[in-house]
Amino acid sequence: MQRLEKMSWYKSSQVVLCLRVLVILIYAGSAPLTAEEVDQKTSADRVHVRSSEQANFIGPSVQRTGRSQAGRQYLVNGNYLTSGVPLEMAKQRYPKGVPNHLKRTGAAASIPFNYNVVTSSSGNLIVVSNCLQCHAQQIDGQFVMGLGNTFVNFARNIGPQAEAIDLLLALRYGTESAQRSDFQRFKTSLTAVAPYIQTKVRGVHSADKLAFVLAAHRDGRDLQWRTPKEIPQSLHGEAIPTDVPPWWVLKKKHAMFYAGTGRGDFARIMMASSLVTLKDTTEASEIDRAFVDVLAFLKTIEPPRYPKPIHADLAAHGRLLFEEHCARCHGTYGDQERYPNLLIPTEEVGTDPLLAQANGTTYRSYFEAHGDSWFAQPPHAAKLVVTDGYVAPPLDGIWITAPYLHNGSVPDLMTLLDSPKRPASWRRSFRSNDYDYDKVGWRYEITTPQQDHDASVYDTTRQGYGNQGHRFGDDFTTDQRKMVVEYLKTL
Ligand code: HEC
Ligand code: HEC
Repeated sequence: MQRLEKMSWYKSSQVVLCLRVLVILIYAGSAPLTAEEVDQKTSADRVHVRSSEQANFIGPSVQRTGRSQAGRQYLVNGNYLTSGVPLEMAKQRYPKGVPNHLKRTGAAASIPFNYNVVTSSSGNLIVVSNCLQCHAQQIDGQFVMGLGNTFVNFARNIGPQAEAIDLLLALRYGTESAQRSDFQRFKTSLTAVAPYIQTKVRGVHSADKLAFVLAAHRDGRDLQWRTPKEIPQSLHGEAIPTDVPPWWVLKKKHAMFYAGTGRGDFARIMMASSLVTLKDTTEASEIDRAFVDVLAFLKTIEPPRYPKPIHADLAAHGRLLFEEHCARCHGTYGDQERYPNLLIPTEEVGTDPLLAQANGTTYRSYFEAHGDSWFAQPPHAAKLVVTDGYVAPPLDGIWITAPYLHNGSVPDLMTLLDSPKRPASWRRSFRSNDYDYDKVGWRYEITTPQQDHDASVYDTTRQGYGNQGHRFGDDFTTDQRKMVVEYLKTL
C-alpha cells in the first residue's frame, strides 16, 4: 500500500551528503556500520517496503541493545534535561516531604517522582522535569510507572508560570545569579512553546505540537537554539489532542506513536524530549547513548494486573468473541501471544482522522525537516514517516489506560464497544480514585458542550476531539459486550 510511506526521506543534494558525513565524523563514540550491520539494515528496510505493499503490516526496524537497570537509573536520576530550579527552592514546596515512589536515594528522595535532581553547568543541584511528567500516574493510591498521565492540564497557559519562577529567582538570588541562569534555558523554551501547545480540554496532551514548535526553534543540524524571525503559519492552529500510550506495550510495537509515525531507532526518537533544554550536539550524543539503556528499561515494564475479582466463565466466553472479532487487529494474548503490528487506515477504523491527516498536511514540513536533521543521521537514524492511519495497539493492561482512543475521547471500555452510547460531552472529576472497575474507565457525568468555558468538559464536537468510529463492538448484545470487557480485564 503506497499510502503508508508517501514520503521519501532521502534528499540527494550534495550539501546534505557532506553535512551528513561531517556529522558522522563528529559523532564520537559510535563506530561506523560494519558490513554485517549494513546488510541487516538494508534487509530490514526491504522487509518494510515489501510488507507495506501487502496489508497494513508495519515492518520492524533495527534497535540498539542496552542495559535495563542502567536505563531505569538514568530515567529517574539522569541529566537529559539540564535547566531547572535550585533544589533548596523546590524542596520548600514540599515541607512535609513526598512519597518516594521510585525508592530513590539522596536528594531525589525528597522531591516528586516527575522531577530529577541533576548538577547544573554552574555546579548547583537543580530540579528538572523528567519523562514521568507525562508517563506515570497515580490511580487509587497506586503509583504506575509507564501509565500515561491523564491528569495533566495543558488547557492552561504555562508561559506565565515560567515568568513567575524567573522573577522569584531574580528576587531571591539576584538578577545575575547562577541560580537564575540555571533556569534560563528552561524558561526560554517554555515561554516559546506555551502559546502553541494549549489544549481545549484538561487531560489530553499536545506533545506532537510541542515537538514541532521546539524543532522550529532549533537548527536541525547543530541543534542550537535559534529564535525564528517569524513563527511558521503551520504552528498557529489549535493543538491536536492525544492521549499517551502506556510504555509497557512498546516492546511489541514496530512503530512509535498513535499514527505509527516513529520508525528507525526508537532511543533516538525518544531523546528528542531533551530538546527542551539541550545545548548542542555533543550533549545530544551523550544523551542518545544513555537512551539506548532507557529503551531497554521501557521494554521490561509489565502492565499492572486488574485488582478486582474477574468472572472466569464470562472472560472465557469473551475470549472467544475477542478472537473472532478483534484479534486480527489487536493480536492474541496468553500462552500463544501474537501481535500483528498493523496500521489501520483512518477510513477503515473511522476514528477522528485529524491527527493522522495533519502529519501529512499541516506538519508535513516538520517530517521532512526531521529527515535532514541530526536525528536522522546514520548509523542509528530515527525516522518519522507520514501515515494515514492509526496503529491497532496491543491491549495489555488496557483496563487501566482509560480514557480510550488516540485522543482520549471515550471514558470507558463499555461505551468504546457500544459507539451510540458514547457521551458526546462529558466531565470527569479528575480524582484519581474515581475509576469504575465494572465499566472499566473513568466515572463521568454527561454535560452539555461548553465550547469555551470549562476545561474539565470533554466536548467531542470540537475538531480533533471526535469520539466516532471503531464500531467493532456495536453488533454485540449487552451480554456479549460484558463478556468481552471481562476478558479485556485479564490482559
Ligand atoms: C509533555 C508530555 C511528555 C513528556 C515529558 C514525554 N512524553 Fe513521551 N509521549 C507523550 C505523548 C503525548 C505521546 C503520544 C504521542 C503520539 O502518539 O502522538 C508520547 C509517546 C511516547 C512513546 C511512544 C509510545 C508508543 O507506544 O507509541 C515513548 C516510547 C515515549 N513517549 C517516551 C518518552 C520518554 C523516554 C520521555 C522522556 C525523555 C518522554 N516520552 C517524555 C508525552 C510526553
Ligand atoms: C480493523 C482493525 C480493528 C478491529 C477489528 C478492532 N480494532 Fe480496536 N483498535 C483498532 C485501531 C486502529 C485502534 C486505534 C484507534 C485510535 O486510537 O484512533 C483501536 C483501538 C482500540 C482500543 C483503545 C486502545 C487505547 O489505547 O485507547 C480498544 C480497547 C480496542 N481497540 C478494542 C477492540 C476490541 C475489543 C475489538 C473487537 C470487538 C476491536 N478493538 C476490534 C483497530 C481495530
